[in-house]
Amino acid sequence: MPKRILVANWKNHPESSARAAIILDGLQKKSQIFKKISTYIAPPSTYFESASKKIKGFANLASQDMFFATDGTFTGAITPDISKSFGVKLAILGHSERRALGETNEVVSDKMKTTLRSGFIPLLCVGETERDQEGNHFEFIREELELSLNGVRRKDDARKLVIAYEPVWAIGKKAKEAMQPEELSEMVIFIRKVLTDIFGRDSAEEIPILYGGSVDATNAKELMRAGVDGLLVGRASLDPKIFASIAEAYL
Ligand code: PGA
Repeated sequence: MPKRILVANWKNHPESSARAAIILDGLQKKSQIFKKISTYIAPPSTYFESASKKIKGFANLASQDMFFATDGTFTGAITPDISKSFGVKLAILGHSERRALGETNEVVSDKMKTTLRSGFIPLLCVGETERDQEGNHFEFIREELELSLNGVRRKDDARKLVIAYEPVWAIGKKAKEAMQPEELSEMVIFIRKVLTDIFGRDSAEEIPILYGGSVDATNAKELMRAGVDGLLVGRASLDPKIFASIAEAYL
């Protein structure tokens, strides 16, 4: 996997295709910046078609989830084949907002396997809901990684994998309430160690680790300096100028 990855998670925004077109036009104007790194845009699937056309040449299309099955009939599902037909390259899996709706580590690991088998890059999100003095969040992250990666053990799989550390308490806040770089460095080292235990040192070294949670133009640079390989951006990715400034923080 190339390092230095920037992912826009549009979540359930914007509310109309007209507004999506405005954002996509704004991104196009800043295409030179996005081209310099590995940029992925994950809009709602209803905007896949327009997004895939407009970001061509400077960013890749991503999905915010991946259905766990490839065969059968499933009302309401966006199956891997559908995503592939629009050119989706990467799938965000196990986002905390999906976990809050009841998605378990077991379901996430099924989706991981389908995503890998179907040829997409899985971006696995992990993150604790709260922190305590005893440091229980480290064990929480270890377990979330181990269980979400259950059945994903091949070195070949590790080569395609991307991890996003998104502490739930830091999502959707003001930039100054995002995680502090020192704490982030510590967690990145810990996640790398867990990945080493799972895949072995050589493979684990190659896996990009991103940070997400209230990233904007004001804190992107210091967060990148904390040793992550990229950022997963929610709200701030809906403003092309701010999103471009975040990309500039990589350079
Ligand atoms: P935020 O969201 O940047 O709005 O905090 C990040 C995410 O949930 O992926």
